[in-house]
Amino acid sequence: MGCAGSSARPEVPATGRQSATPSIGATAASEAASATDGAVPEQSVRPGVNAKYFEPGAARTWTEVFEGESREVFRHRDAIVAALGLARGMAVGDIGAGTGLFTVPLARAVGPEGQVYAVDIVPAFLERVAMRAQKAGATQVTTVLGEERRTGLSPASLDLAFLCNVYHHIEYPHSYMTSVLEALRPGGRLVVVDFERIEGVTKKSMLLHVRAPKETVIEEILGAGFELLGEEDFLKQNYFLTFWRPPEGHKP
Ligand SMILES: C[S@@+](CC[C@H](N)C(=O)[O-])C[C@H]1O[C@@H](n2cnc3c(N)ncnc32)[C@H](O)[C@@H]1O
Repeated sequence: MGCAGSSARPEVPATGRQSATPSIGATAASEAASATDGAVPEQSVRPGVNAKYFEPGAARTWTEVFEGESREVFRHRDAIVAALGLARGMAVGDIGAGTGLFTVPLARAVGPEGQVYAVDIVPAFLERVAMRAQKAGATQVTTVLGEERRTGLSPASLDLAFLCNVYHHIEYPHSYMTSVLEALRPGGRLVVVDFERIEGVTKKSMLLHVRAPKETVIEEILGAGFELLGEEDFLKQNYFLTFWRPPEGHKP
């Protein structure tokens, strides 16, 4: 389970509770959120990709899908959480938390003195996450209703942002990843786990569902201001990439 790529891995803070509070229930607003000074707003790269999550009964239906053995990330969920390198007291964003497959395990990894912000755009999913966290006694979990172009998190409120099978559901990748960058403290990390998309290898249904291969995803994320730190290789159908928000004055 090597970490290929740059050796400039940032120090992981032993304690990281952030005082900044996320804005819960972010305002629905701004179709033109990414457009300032008359700039053209970013267009959706995948219109309607999340529509099925808003259908009646979706929380129940999708819990079964998200938490089924057929998903590689479900089978390897413990290894994925372990590979995040979390420490007690950290603040983590479970961004695109879905029905909460990772939320409580992340809460356990950061301990009661840490924070987990479960961000999603689907209120019914967040209700389920909140219920699960409550049942597990995970009082360090906060649900955050984000928007399609922005997380709804406070600036510099995270030590780690984690997106598992979410990137290919993001309709406005530049706006959104810029918002993720802002939510990280300088030196904070971003982990993106998502489906490989390889012509001739990946099955057709996934070629249709997943819009971009890993190389494009990396390019887009670098374009939002991140630097790539490395890649884990213990998954087969998914890649596991670690980026960071370089601190002020950092020279690559
Ligand atoms: C395939 S699910 C993955 C859920 C969870 N991460 C897991 O691995 O079980 C993708 C999730 O991303 C969410 N999502 C899509 N666009 C989003 C956005 N702009 N901000 C936050 N969540 C988003 C969807 O609502 C959905 O819950």
